Amino acid sequence: MAICKCTGEQVESPQDVQLMELLEHYREYDGALIPVLQGAQDIYGYLPGEVLETISKELKIPFSEVFGVVTFYSQFHLKPRGRNIIRVCLGTACHVRGGSKIFEGLKEILGVDNGGTTEDLRFTLESVACIGACGLAPVIMINDDTHGRLTNDGLDKILEQYE
Ligand code: FES
Repeated sequence: MAICKCTGEQVESPQDVQLMELLEHYREYDGALIPVLQGAQDIYGYLPGEVLETISKELKIPFSEVFGVVTFYSQFHLKPRGRNIIRVCLGTACHVRGGSKIFEGLKEILGVDNGGTTEDLRFTLESVACIGACGLAPVIMINDDTHGRLTNDGLDKILEQYE
């Protein structure tokens, strides 16, 4: 729910309407929780606390259970994520060829730690194990793009490509 700046009342955003449609669709299904959480995350980009409360209430599932599922699966996010997700490979081949230096360089450029999101929501930085492109080590992925054989000098230029 959004709060109206003029009246202070709670108003439904278009996203809230979509959430209610999603809940309507799944209300009668057993095992609705995970698909509803996935759908809600698609709608909002992450899972705000108030959305979890609405899901708990509407599906009649205790909040503790909903929260437990969200924190168990790494696919769910409780905080806003960046428009661009940077995954830095720290698998063996990348590690040997300086992957952790690339990771440190990105942390410094972006001013965030592992799992962090820049304040302008432009980037989220994450480390991952092997992403299957070891021949290109050290490798990062930004969204669906693979960037390999990296050096710290080239990082700024790569980031510039993403708004
Ligand atoms: S170890 Fe980095 S892609 Fe395989």
